[in-house]
Formats: sequence, structure tokens, C-alpha cells
Amino acid sequence: LWLRYQPLAPPAQAKLKGQARSIVLTAAATPTTRAAVAELQRGVAGMGGGPAPAQATAIADGALVLGTTASLPALDAALKTELSRLGSEGYLLRATRLQGRPVTLIAANTDIGLLYGAFAWLRATAAGTAPVAASSPKLQLRLLNHWDNLDRHVERGYAGASIWDWWALPEITDSRYTDYARANASLGINGTVLNNVNSKPEVLTPAYIAKAAAVADVLRPYGIKVFLSARFSTPLELKETDTADPLSPAVQAWWKKKADEIYRTIPDFGGFLVKANSEGQPGPQDYHRSHADGANMLAAALAPHHGIVMWRAFVYAPEAGKETDRARQAYEEFKPLDGKFAANVMVQVKNGAIDFQPREPFHPLFGAMPNTPLMMEFQITKEYLGFSTDIAYLGTMFEEVLESDTMQGAGKGPTVAQIIEGAHTLGGQPAATGMAGVANIGVDRNWTGHHFDQANWYAFGRLAWNPQASARAIAIEWAAQTFGNDARVTTPVVDMLMLSREAVVDYMTPLGLHHMMGTAHHHGPAPWVNDLERPDWNPVYYHRAARDGIGFDRTASGTNALEQYAPALARLYADPRTTPEKYLLWFHHLPWTYAMPSGRTLWAEIIHHYDRGVAAARDLQTRWDALRGVVDARRHAEVAQRLRRQVQNAQLWRNACIAYFQSVSGLPLPDGVAPPP
Ligand code: GCU
Repeated sequence: LWLRYQPLAPPAQAKLKGQARSIVLTAAATPTTRAAVAELQRGVAGMGGGPAPAQATAIADGALVLGTTASLPALDAALKTELSRLGSEGYLLRATRLQGRPVTLIAANTDIGLLYGAFAWLRATAAGTAPVAASSPKLQLRLLNHWDNLDRHVERGYAGASIWDWWALPEITDSRYTDYARANASLGINGTVLNNVNSKPEVLTPAYIAKAAAVADVLRPYGIKVFLSARFSTPLELKETDTADPLSPAVQAWWKKKADEIYRTIPDFGGFLVKANSEGQPGPQDYHRSHADGANMLAAALAPHHGIVMWRAFVYAPEAGKETDRARQAYEEFKPLDGKFAANVMVQVKNGAIDFQPREPFHPLFGAMPNTPLMMEFQITKEYLGFSTDIAYLGTMFEEVLESDTMQGAGKGPTVAQIIEGAHTLGGQPAATGMAGVANIGVDRNWTGHHFDQANWYAFGRLAWNPQASARAIAIEWAAQTFGNDARVTTPVVDMLMLSREAVVDYMTPLGLHHMMGTAHHHGPAPWVNDLERPDWNPVYYHRAARDGIGFDRTASGTNALEQYAPALARLYADPRTTPEKYLLWFHHLPWTYAMPSGRTLWAEIIHHYDRGVAAARDLQTRWDALRGVVDARRHAEVAQRLRRQVQNAQLWRNACIAYFQSVSGLPLPDGVAPPP
């Protein structure tokens, strides 16, 4: 991954050695501080190309010193003040003098702050950037969500089987779990949900609780808490109650007992993630109860142990025979429940009111529930963006969403990032805050199936730490740590990352089109009519291409999903002329002849985007080919193979969509456009 610690260039090596002649841990030796020292030794040895610096007790010239305010009583007052503002996970890095000696100081208020500081210093060293002087996370919960089943199949996973070997656990723990913890801690990720949101009752049986506890033991020194996805009907399905009704005293008692049992085994258990009444999953609505009734019942069981419930807002189900808009449903079900959730419930809102599409406008719930802590749920695994075949850097996508202006305030803002940072929830009171990412990790040797998909795990972690960080700056850091700090590689790699997601949008679903992937697998194109029992599983439901035009009318003349946004934004998007082009067909159904700002017709513009997408895929390939001999042969070949397939995917998408839309529109291809074969 990005913790390669390859030898630096000679001048950087000399500097590094001068800064880390020895390592002095002034704080108590704990599993966490020991991990920090070990990581520094590993990093300095690797990047310095020499032996690991010894751990010493006396502060000498050029020492790398780790300490807290308590362990460094002589720390100067200004640094102490700065440190006191950094909370329980922040750190500061400083070239300073201690006991009259020039040292590099990594200081924090806690052990985990020291570990984060150690990783931050190593990151800056590897990337050749000035270490960030002080940093603390803007969000409290920074979690991976594994969609990993207990049989090790990963739902929407494209990097091999699950890394959690449930069969071998709890006695046998893979050394990869430690590397997983290191990689996550290096980004500040502090929690992980081990199992799929489409959960099974078995995961809450004693055998599986013991297995989860064994994983928790490995992750704990790295500041990572374990959470589990809980199936709402677990007590009923385990035949321990005769209902799962959240208002049944027997059900409430069962969950309380279960929580007590879990905390006896995993004292710092994080809590439950719940997918309820969505895609056939059981939930409180089965008993005519609300999401709040369900979430609060679980929250009451966890509260004595300080556990939390992350209740997903990803819900949709068509009402029989009725024309609905799936994009409206989460808002309709959750907005009326604002302020009705217990204090230890967070509502986890998926990125996009439809489903993790290559591009969606931000979810209208952000900004609409000021009395409820909302977590962002991003998908790191690329279910709809070409799996682990196509390169698509999600940093730019996450950034686009996070910096979206909800226009809920009086003037500008708040942005989605500000909302999840809690600034605008609970009447200004500090709220629980968090971000979750559906993991793209598996047992593949490179962890994520595609070397470039490591960048998405990385970008998620960095943005969870600071949702206002720059996707480009993150890409630069990642590229330097992953391929070496050599501009001949990092510049083209960063350029590839930065153009890649837009390329995918162009060759799959340009101009606000969405969900045209083949049903079930979600990989290739299938814009045509499918014979499915549910209309909302049918791509034609989303693009609405017909003789008269294309696009989903979500304005007042259509489903009016637009009314779920702030009035100022809804007004702006009500008119196609003032709707950002990238969301045009998300909100509007327009004639094929509609005149685009470019001067092209809509039909010609759609084709232009598909052609541009194919050209961009080829461009990625050309840029990578130019790196042959500069990047190591193995990684070069593995990425080159996938890029060949990405170009084919792009062509397939372009040809299938143009051919299909032409069959519907009956229009000739514009001059100079190559007909699909
Ligand atoms: C998508 C995905 C499913 C997943 C669901 C969810 O619909 O295709 O596999 O279970 O999202 O987020 O719950």
C-alpha cells in the first residue's frame, strides 16, 4: 500500500537520518505507543536505507521524541497551549529543542494521538512535504463498512474474498489484520464494521461474538473499534422471541441482554449498523413502527455501554402499481423523524438519493435534518464505476459532494462537509459526527484488486479526517508514497487520477443520466428494457429515453423530488438553463433537439460526452504506457492490462448507449460521428 517506505533520494535520506538518529518515547510504553515506535523504526530504516534507529531513553541531538504534555513537563508553554486544543486524537509535529537539544517532536494528548502523529511524520517524509504542524480530526467516527459475508463472499467486492477468516477465528488471526490496522491508522480511520449490511442473525451468536472479539484485540492498539451490522429480526430468527417488534418488552429485553453479552467480550465495542426496511431487509415498519422506534430500541440497549446505532437512510421500495421516484423516499421517511432519534443514534445517509452512482447531486437529507446527527456514507468499492477494472479516483467525487452548497443557510452554505462536521446540527450544540466508507478491501495481493484503487481507500480516510481537504493534495501524497517521490511518476499519476472519474462519468452516464448499468452485476451498459418485476430495477425507469426526449423530470411537472432541496437551490435547478450541466438529465426531461450552451443539440452533446469518455480512457492508457521502465515492471504490467480492458469497457458503453438511444430517438448520427458497430 502507501506504507512502502522505499529508500528516498540521497539528499532526503541525509535529512531523514539527521532527524531520527534515535527514537525516544517519553510517554508510557503501551501497545499503541509501541506500535508508533515500531512504525517509525520501520519507516526510517526503509526510507533511510539503513538500520532502524535505536530506541533510547535520553534525549540527544537529532532524536525523534514522542511525548504527551504529562510526559514532557519541560515543554514550552506555547506548545502546551497548542496541544491542549488538539483533543484526544490530534497531534503536533515540531522541530524544536528539548533539554537544550535539537529534536523532532511528535506530541499529542493521548497514545493514539502519538500513533497518528508518527504516521503523519512518516507521510510527510515519504512525500517530501513539510510536516503539517498540528492536526486533529474534524469528524469523530471515521469508519470502514465491510460488506463482507460470513462465508467470505464480499457483496460488491472486487478484490477477492473477505480478509476476515471467520472459520479460522477466533484462535487464528491473520497477520494481515495487523497490516490492515496499520494502513487504517495511518489515515486516522478509527472504526470498522466487520460484516455486510445485509446481515445474518448468526453474527450475534456467541461463536461470532468471540470471533469479532479476536479481531477487536488485534485492531485495538491502532485505535480501531469493531462494530457489527445487526439484522433487525435477529431475536425472532434465532427463535428466542416470537416477534421483532421494537415496542415488545421481550424484544427490548433480548437486545439489552445481547448488548451486555457483547460488551462482556468486547468492552470497547462500537455499536450496530442497521439496514432496515430496505431491499427486503426486515425492520420496524414490518410492525407499523417507525425508523426512530427501531433505532431507539437498539440505542437503549447500547447506551449503558456507550455504544451507538448507525441507522441507514438507504431505503426504497416501490408501492405496488404506483409511479414513484426512488430518489424521494429516504427524505419522505426520515425528514419527519428529525429530532426523534435517541442521543446515541446517527442516521447514515448514502451518497446519492439513488445509489452510489458515478455522479449524483448531493442527498437532499443533508441540511434537512438539523436536529439529527447525519453521517455520510460513501462507497469506496466501485460498484457502479467499473469495479476494480477501471481507474476512477473517487477523491474528486467525494470532494465534489462534500463541497456542495446545500443553500440551507441565509447566505452561502452550509456545505455538505459543514453539515456532517456538525456545525449546523442540534442548534449549534456539538453533535456526534462521522463518515463511513464501504470498503474495497479483499485478500488480493494488492488489497484492492487494482493498484489505483488503493488511492480510493486512502482518499476516503484522509477526507474522513478532514472533509475539507483537497482531493488533488491527497492524490499527490498517495502517488508519492505509492510510487516514490519522483516527479516523473507522480505528476503523470496525479494527472491520471484527477481526470479519471470524469472519464467514467462521460463514458457511462453523462449529463446527469444514471443507473444504466446491467441489473444485478452493475458493470456494463444495459440501457434497454429489462424484464424485471420492479420498475425501479429497470434502467429505462431512470433515463426515460423516448421519441420525445431523454431525462428524468424531477421538477414540479414531474415527481418534484426537487422540492426536497432548499428553496434557493430548488429554484435554480427548476430551470434547465440554470441547472448545472452535469445534473441536467437528473432533473429534466428534455427534447433531443434541446440547444445546449455548446451550440450542439442535446443528442449531439450526449454523443460528444461518450466520445470524450472513450478518448479519456485511451489517454489514461497512453499516459501509463509512457511510464514503462519508470514504474516497477510488475505494477506497470498489472495496471496496463486493466487499462486495456478499461478502453474496451469505455467503447462498449459508448456503442451500446448510442445505439440504444438512437433506436429510441430515431435520429441520425451527427456528421463525423462513428456509427456503433
Ligand atoms: C446497492 C447494492 C446492494 C447493497 C445496497 C445497500 O443497492 O447494489 O448490493 O446491498 O446498495 O447499500 O444496502
